[in-house]
Amino acid sequence: MPLPVIAVFDAYGTLFDVHSAVRRVAGSVGADAGRVSVLWRDKQLEYSWTRSLMGRYADFWQVTEDALDYALATCGVDNTKLRGALLAAYRILDAYPDVRTALTGYHDLGVRTAVFSNATPSMLHDALVSAGLDEIVDTTFSTDTLRRYKPEPEVYAQACKAFSAKPETIVFHSSNAWDAAGAASFGWYSFWINRAHHAPEYAWAGPNECPSLDTALARVRAIDPPKKRTD
Ligand code: LAC
Repeated sequence: MPLPVIAVFDAYGTLFDVHSAVRRVAGSVGADAGRVSVLWRDKQLEYSWTRSLMGRYADFWQVTEDALDYALATCGVDNTKLRGALLAAYRILDAYPDVRTALTGYHDLGVRTAVFSNATPSMLHDALVSAGLDEIVDTTFSTDTLRRYKPEPEVYAQACKAFSAKPETIVFHSSNAWDAAGAASFGWYSFWINRAHHAPEYAWAGPNECPSLDTALARVRAIDPPKKRTD
């Protein structure tokens, strides 16, 4: 891999800890807090895929609300105030500790940075501003403008256009194995940031497994010769 032109990051699970919303109000959720959080995320993703396949788009905020309603109902939690608190917390999730150093590390190499996400532009704005990352991310691209979701090849194609970058000049990072696989399958150099030490999957699509953003950056830095980009 030559030094990339742009380092692209998925948002949820990669930059932002999706479980930090439930963690903040775990006491109010009760014994099933962990289950609510996992179900919420799983259903959010499932609904994005099923809506894409059915041609019944609704934006990622709607999908996030629907998934939370399912998770709360499944765990027998009926509390409108808590629902509101969870959704408010989801707008301002915690960023992982290695995010800032990775973004600044790429800048130091002369590599642009971008966020590419299913989230609506307003969700991305709130998350980046609350984490203090808005000033160090060069650009964002939301699949919402296409009314489609990852991992459809077309959304990776449109992201290339938005970033004015050829597929082979992009280095992508996602902690979602299926998203890292979608990017690799499309032709991006793709790191699967396996923070949670999940079992290997999607090897056939060609993502490169990595335990953290720091490690991914170190691998890019090790490219020989590690010259700074000046174009
Ligand atoms: C995103 C989801 C997939 O941010 O995590 O696009």
